[in-house]
Amino acid sequence: MKKFLVTGGAGFIGSHMCLTLLEKKFKIVVIDSFINSNPKSLERVLKICESNGLNIKDNLKVIKGDLNNKNLIEEIFLSEKNINEPIEGVIHFAGLKAVNESVSDPCLYWQSNLLNLINLLEVMKKFNCKTIVFSSSATIYGKSNKNLKENDPLNPINPYGNTKLAMEILLKDIYNTAPNDWRIANLRYFNPIGSHSSGLIGESPSGNTNNIFPLILKVAHGQLSCLEVFGKDWNTKDGTPIRDYIHVMDLVDAHLCTMIYLFKNKGQIININLGTGKGVTVLDLINSFQKVNKVKIPYVFSKRRKGDVEKLVASNELALKILNWSPKKGIDEMCHDGWKWKKNNPNGYI
Ligand code: UD1
Repeated sequence: MKKFLVTGGAGFIGSHMCLTLLEKKFKIVVIDSFINSNPKSLERVLKICESNGLNIKDNLKVIKGDLNNKNLIEEIFLSEKNINEPIEGVIHFAGLKAVNESVSDPCLYWQSNLLNLINLLEVMKKFNCKTIVFSSSATIYGKSNKNLKENDPLNPINPYGNTKLAMEILLKDIYNTAPNDWRIANLRYFNPIGSHSSGLIGESPSGNTNNIFPLILKVAHGQLSCLEVFGKDWNTKDGTPIRDYIHVMDLVDAHLCTMIYLFKNKGQIININLGTGKGVTVLDLINSFQKVNKVKIPYVFSKRRKGDVEKLVASNELALKILNWSPKKGIDEMCHDGWKWKKNNPNGYI
């Protein structure tokens, strides 16, 4: 069985990814700085595996460290090589991702997101590991009212989005150095929400999150009295913006399918949208949450948020066609599972 390096494996999406990989019996090494995540998420991952009768504790190694430490990355690759279990692929989640913070401190974002990827790629090259799945974002597309296709124009509108696009460009340059060898996938996420159905792992945002789903969970739990809905004058059926929410378990499944796809095929670089292809308005999301969970979400309308777009929905035709994957869970299940996590862990892993 192949061994993978998962950077940022203790985070929201990373921890769900680790669970899926371990369940499929892959061996993984996680590197995580725990700056925006908590090692408890991976203890929970093991707990879920154990409760399902899987004895895979030895298949997970967790290393605390930052990707700005190139020596550490080298040590990881070397020690796995020395035990004859070389790292054959990387899933790169680690990175800074708060839009507001990126606006106030762009250098931090450029330094951290780009330098970390540079270090990672240099070490991968040194150890002849040339397969990488990269967490990109639909935020790089900019504005469009139709379902976005991978070859639509790219036009990020904030420093965070700029770094994601720059990382894709860097990956393309690396690919061009040895097109027969590098296997690279840029997975462009739309809006991942929800959590594993056990309610044991989920999104534990540190600091003040501005994303809607963690805020709905806070309101549902009474940690926040009311949700602010940003604008009711958008050109949509109910006046609120449309997004493509995707269940985190579907999202991580797509990563595994991507790895399998990359290994089956010759060297290539590919961009793939990960969304359901279904547009959901803010009010749709609130209504679904209230209906499924029988919890009230008080909300007030306020003015449009700067930088918001009216509609961001994936065309996921490419993913459906090549990955042998399709999203299974709808908005109700996302709301149900997310609430289960929040009820059990009102303050995240703390
Ligand atoms: C945001 C980021 C995007 C990033 C993504 C990561 C901005 C402008 N965009 O996308 O770059 O990749 O998160 O998950 O920050 N909403 C409310 N009230 C709230 C919060 C949000 O009405 O308190 C609305 C927003 O107007 C939007 C929708 O909910 O229409 C989704 O917002 P959010 O969860 O922040 O995601 P995006 O804006 O799509």
